[in-house]
Amino acid sequence: MVVGGFFGDEGKGKIVSYIAYKDKPDIVVRGGVGPNAGHTVYYKGKKFKLRQVPSGFVNENSRLLIGPGVLVNPKIFLKEVNELGLTPERVGIDYQAGIIEEKHIERDKKPDLQGRLGTTASGCGPANADRALRTLKIAKDVQELRPYLTDVPQELHDAIDDGKYILVEGTQGTFLSLWHGTYPYVTSKDVTASAILSDVGIGPLDVDNVIVVFKAYVTRVGPGPLPNELSEDEIKRRGWVEIATVTGRVRRAAPFNFELARRAVRLNSANIIALTRLDVVYPEVAGVRDYDKLSDRARNFIEEIEKKVGVKVKIISTGPGILDTIDLR
Ligand code: GTP
Ligand code: IMP
Ligand code: MG
Repeated sequence: MVVGGFFGDEGKGKIVSYIAYKDKPDIVVRGGVGPNAGHTVYYKGKKFKLRQVPSGFVNENSRLLIGPGVLVNPKIFLKEVNELGLTPERVGIDYQAGIIEEKHIERDKKPDLQGRLGTTASGCGPANADRALRTLKIAKDVQELRPYLTDVPQELHDAIDDGKYILVEGTQGTFLSLWHGTYPYVTSKDVTASAILSDVGIGPLDVDNVIVVFKAYVTRVGPGPLPNELSEDEIKRRGWVEIATVTGRVRRAAPFNFELARRAVRLNSANIIALTRLDVVYPEVAGVRDYDKLSDRARNFIEEIEKKVGVKVKIISTGPGILDTIDLR
């Protein structure tokens, strides 16, 4: 499984699409909050921004599933399914996934939510609140979703019994967790590994590897604490400017945070680190696909992470494309 180690946007979309392409999993299943996420995937020369469909779509033989813990906006889901040309044989939503309606989006735009917390205004928080009140509509009640409905946990359990390969895709990031993040500047539920497993319907002992994704620096969109935050000018000077996938906001940035990384590793029981955007911090490594061809300073940085965080960096991303990856697994 793959989870985010900082404040979301670590590049999980890129890492999941790479693993799906390389390992050819039988199933790629998405956990996390819902369409507040935006995973960016480059595939066949095109850029995709996925808010509902798993980034594993790049492997044409993977079944793509959305777990019961994930919120679905039927309009966004159907648009992505259409753009990617997916059939109900390839993509499925659990019967019990919660449904975002217009009223949730309207509510999310209010001063106490988008105004105070900088939410993505995608309706996720209000929909999860209704879920807790047990008034939220679920997927089995939505006519347009009928062809896609399935029992996701059962599909996963059968796949596990058959010895198949499942890739679980997390969204958001550890410090946006409702329990473990910078409350109240957080998302509307837990998003650490344990929660993502619960979203899709499997348990801790079903998991072989937990890959935590860190960016080579830290970014965050919206308000809330960001230790060692850089000024806008400094972000520009370093070439670290990023625009958010879902909201179009400029991402705030800070240097890599070893302390947060160590805590994220424990919160997720991660045994593998994937490091992204190494080329943004060390431009000379752009597109490098061989560990020995990395510059000394880039390798020193990786070794420093391994030493201070205590987990091996086994996947290194040197560009947005799927193949701009060093895989030491
Ligand atoms: P959430 O689910 O919203 O948290 O998103 P995410 O973790 O999938 O990340 P997102 O796609 O929002 O942001 C990461 C950005 O970095 C995207 O624009 C990616 O295309 C890009 N990216 C990922 N890895 C690399 C890399 O190694 N180098 C460069 N230059 N860009 C990368
Ligand atoms: P919400 O999840 O839309 O309620 O937003 C709450 C906070 O989480 C805001 O600061 C958002 O910017 C942040 N957030 C939610 N999802 C993501 C994500 O996928 N990437 C980055 N930030 C996110
Ligand atoms: Mg994103």
